[in-house]
Amino acid sequence: MRVFNIAIAGFGGVGRATANLLLSRRQRYREVYGADVRLVSVCGSRSGLSDPGGLEAERLDRLETGLSGPDFVAASGADILIEAGPSDFRTGGPGLAYIRSALAAGRDTIVMSKGALVHSGKQLRELATGSGAMLKLSGAAAAALPTIDLVDHSLRGCEVLEIEGILNATTNFLLDAMTTKGLGFDAALKEAQKGGFAEADPRNDTEGWDTACKLLILANFGLGADLTMDDLAVEGIQSVTGDRIEAWRAEGVVPKLVGNLTRTDGKFRAAVGIRTYPLSDPLANVRGKDKAIRITTDAMGDTIAIGSGKEPFATAAAALKDLEHILSARVAVPVSISEPSS
Ligand code: HSE
Repeated sequence: MRVFNIAIAGFGGVGRATANLLLSRRQRYREVYGADVRLVSVCGSRSGLSDPGGLEAERLDRLETGLSGPDFVAASGADILIEAGPSDFRTGGPGLAYIRSALAAGRDTIVMSKGALVHSGKQLRELATGSGAMLKLSGAAAAALPTIDLVDHSLRGCEVLEIEGILNATTNFLLDAMTTKGLGFDAALKEAQKGGFAEADPRNDTEGWDTACKLLILANFGLGADLTMDDLAVEGIQSVTGDRIEAWRAEGVVPKLVGNLTRTDGKFRAAVGIRTYPLSDPLANVRGKDKAIRITTDAMGDTIAIGSGKEPFATAAAALKDLEHILSARVAVPVSISEPSS
């Protein structure tokens, strides 16, 4: 049975959820892929743990200070890196060094934090191409909502003409709570923080930056665009008042914070801002912390996906979906050819 050694860099809520879910699925990996998947190292910013024989769940609460960093991951013998650090698109965040190091060494890499992909996406793509490593990023591209997989698999061969995405759970929750429950902005934000889906700095959500990051990752990694944050006009929902909500309600339309991408004559344009939809539009009916995407293609018309999951479990599951795609690509499936009967 082929052994796959996994490292997880970034060991907050999402990293821990990923470790536990991965360990609980080891039997599945054996049965479906013939793969012995071992978690050989985990680390946060200052501490970590490694064991070439594989870590078990009960050891994950006893991280040792000083065991951290890309060299620690490399020395642990990992074949696959799962990066789950905090996201910072202005600097690339702490995950960037781990991702660079893994891709340069040819290790398949699953990225969950958006920052590195927005900050240095082109360089990371080039590193992966150069070393032959697979770079997967479902967890960074709206996680439980399929986005990049729709483009890569379900709509393959079609030309994407437009994408409209409600890509941020927090802003959808806020606008929905203000519209349907009459909550004020601050009260709704407190509920989103309690729910665990608002960012540590909620301005990333409310000012539209999280939506912009996801849209940019989808454009660059899914559609081959080469956009930077400077190419996007980004507006958030921070100045939406109760009066504005009331006016939209009177008009019979529903406000959503939407990332919009269009392609005309091969040129991409992207923006984030509030759009309003009549109730007859499926996007008007995306409620609470659900997210949604509408992709318009030349040959298959409109495709809509709506989804959400409980965090951090849903993001962990999105990353492990990527892991399964890597396992199925890397494990040679023996083809049994039956002899013709004589
Ligand atoms: N804060 C994000 C959201 C979750 O509300 O969708 C992480 O991307």
